Amino acid sequence: MIGKLNHVAIVVPDLEAAVAVYRDTLGAEVSAPAPLPEHGVTTVFVSLPNTKVELLHPLGADSPIARYLERNPDGGMHHVCYEVDDIASARDSLLVAGARVLGDGEPKIGAHGKPVLFLHPKDFCGTLVELEQI
Ligand code: CO
Repeated sequence: MIGKLNHVAIVVPDLEAAVAVYRDTLGAEVSAPAPLPEHGVTTVFVSLPNTKVELLHPLGADSPIARYLERNPDGGMHHVCYEVDDIASARDSLLVAGARVLGDGEPKIGAHGKPVLFLHPKDFCGTLVELEQI
């Protein structure tokens, strides 16, 4: 069902410092920060030859990652995103298998303009999983 690893998302307390780590220390190609007020985050993409790392920083009062940062002040890995061809059919077969889909179960348009769903970490080895239809 799942295809390529689309990205790994990391919540960071200091976006400029995180950019410096990936760009200067690790020598990666890093995008300009993109504020996404409708998602409550600012994102920076780190492009790697085979996938991406998404640096997430809270934006606005109701950021969905603000609590994560309260619990993990140094930041940390937030989710992994796998590509699927058909997100509705992936959801349906996951529900049949007993997995929990977060929210109302309907795909939303994610940070990259594609339909996404999130799966409960307790059903996936303690890791929040995002599915993105490519
Ligand atoms: Co993501």
